[in-house]
Amino acid sequence: ARGAAEFVPDTADLSTLQEASCRCRGCDLYQNATQTVFGEGPPDASVVVVGEQPGDQEDRQGHPFVGPAGHLLDKALDEAGIDRDTVYLTNAVKHFKFVERGKRRIHKTPGRTEIVACSAWINAELALIRPRLVVCLGAVAAQAVIDPAFKVSQQRGEVVSRPDYRAIATVHPSAVLRAPDRAEAYAAFVDDLKKVRAEMG
Ligand code: URA
Ligand code: SF4
Repeated sequence: ARGAAEFVPDTADLSTLQEASCRCRGCDLYQNATQTVFGEGPPDASVVVVGEQPGDQEDRQGHPFVGPAGHLLDKALDEAGIDRDTVYLTNAVKHFKFVERGKRRIHKTPGRTEIVACSAWINAELALIRPRLVVCLGAVAAQAVIDPAFKVSQQRGEVVSRPDYRAIATVHPSAVLRAPDRAEAYAAFVDDLKKVRAEMG
């Protein structure tokens, strides 16, 4: 994979970036996915929320966090006192990676190669938006944005300083949906988002 960098235009405009992302062939994932799912939200958002990659619904609809994980995220943000419309929502990897099982498309976690290949897009988004705080949902986002060795299990809810912004990682909403004790996992997720709310001032 050559990576996304050669497809990322030198622009100060997020919509130009988004349009260009539709033509990205920086790794193999564009081949089987329906479309690129780019970030969405206010270009001057003080908080950017980064997920892993689009899911089945996001791939079909072309928008981030519109499926079951997105609905859980909406509810949790709301409970933490954060208005979804004020945050910019995006993903570490912009194409859906999956395997087909009959009629179902089963999510596959992106690998290191795809995370690195796609990182030019998230870096370009962050460089234009310049948020105060980046919220990483799950290990893939935290590894793309904070540190390739980041362990969400050990460092969730911890605010870390990067040169251009602060960052905090929590679990992915899909992990909450799959948790054996979903109520407990959801409460812990909302607690982490309340820390985000507190950081927003
Ligand atoms: N999961 C993600 O990480 N991102 C989405 O956009 C949807 C589900
Ligand atoms: Fe480009 Fe990222 Fe899609 Fe790979 S996943 S083709 S790097 S936009």
